Amino acid sequence: MSLVQLAMAARTPSALAHRIPTLLTIVVPTYNERTNIRLLAKRLDQVLGETGWEMVIVDDDSPDGTHAVAKSMARRDPRIRCLRRIGRRGLSGACIEGMLSSSSPYVAVMDGDLQHDETILPQMLEALREGASDLVIGSRLVEGGDAASGFGRARQWISATGARLSRLALRTDVRDTMSGFFMIRRDIADELVPKLCTDGFKILADILATAGPSLRVQEVGYSFRERHGGESKLDAKVALDFLGLILNKITGGTLPVSFVGFALVGVSGLIVHLAVLYVAMQAGAAFVAAQTCATLISIVSNFALNNSLTYRASRLRGWRWVRGLLMFSAICSISAVANIGVATWMFEREQTWIVAGLAGVLMGAVWNYAVSTKFVWRA
Ligand code: GDD
Ligand code: MN
Repeated sequence: MSLVQLAMAARTPSALAHRIPTLLTIVVPTYNERTNIRLLAKRLDQVLGETGWEMVIVDDDSPDGTHAVAKSMARRDPRIRCLRRIGRRGLSGACIEGMLSSSSPYVAVMDGDLQHDETILPQMLEALREGASDLVIGSRLVEGGDAASGFGRARQWISATGARLSRLALRTDVRDTMSGFFMIRRDIADELVPKLCTDGFKILADILATAGPSLRVQEVGYSFRERHGGESKLDAKVALDFLGLILNKITGGTLPVSFVGFALVGVSGLIVHLAVLYVAMQAGAAFVAAQTCATLISIVSNFALNNSLTYRASRLRGWRWVRGLLMFSAICSISAVANIGVATWMFEREQTWIVAGLAGVLMGAVWNYAVSTKFVWRA
């Protein structure tokens, strides 16, 4: 190498990275973000410059090959790493693994689609380093913050209502509890991590709930931008998980997060059942035939919905779908017998049909949930 080449090499990020210890890890969870991550890395470099930083891209084996792009970035710049997870989906789990994969004293979580404003990162880091806060949140709901540009009206309303609901459930003054943009001290993150939920979207809400009121939190306003490329992954499943998380926290962890989804699917099955029964009876079918038909269809519909919503991460396909359906039907049949048994026993003692009926349904639902989770959709 000539002297000139050496001098050039010394100025490249790779040469610098060996001299500056990592102070801040930025965890970027990704799913189909290949068009965005190069630009994000470039902007982080512009904003953080020679602050010792690294970017950990945690990709859930995106079909668009985000991980291939990330790995090729990582080959050129040692400040960038990529963790490719196979057979798993989930924003919270991805963030947690990214945090655990590093050892710097401060960790941030940031979306990979450029909606979060990277220019507030130095201010967030300063706030932690001064020692007055344990957690700093990039917030759309405090002064200097704004969510209007990145969201449509409906999303704005959902987001604001969600924030209000979670403020109540989490008993916190934090405005933007739904933010996906935050920075935390490593020692505190390490302490909390074993207690956090790996499925779900709301890792910040979970951190706030788990840490309790002793956590010193600060919010820094920023303006939520429009997504750069690709599309949002926030959908009905995410909303369901969030509801599950809130109920899980309210009940002190007794109610599993995915039970809410399972129970709602159960309610939808009841509606399907009654609808089929109605149509079949109108068409002049005998009651036994109509009821049998309604039962079978509602079992298939419950199975399909649970498979694509409640248990999306361990979704069954092809032959495993058929086998799963048969197992699910068997589990439901056993629970139907148990349900009738419990309800009859209660009715003989209580004589109130509504209490006895509900007890039977509840016991059936808990059995279906527990056994299906363990045997049909074991992750
Ligand atoms: N590894 C991984 N696995 N990453 C995921 C997954 C997943 O299953 N699902 C989404 N992501 C990544 C996306 O690629 C993106 O980088 C980031 O997580 C946020 O996902 P978006 O799909 O862009 O979410 P959003 O913009 O609709 O929601 C934003 O606003 C919410 C508040 O209303 C996010 O900032 C959320 O975190 C925030 O709670
Ligand atoms: Mn987004």
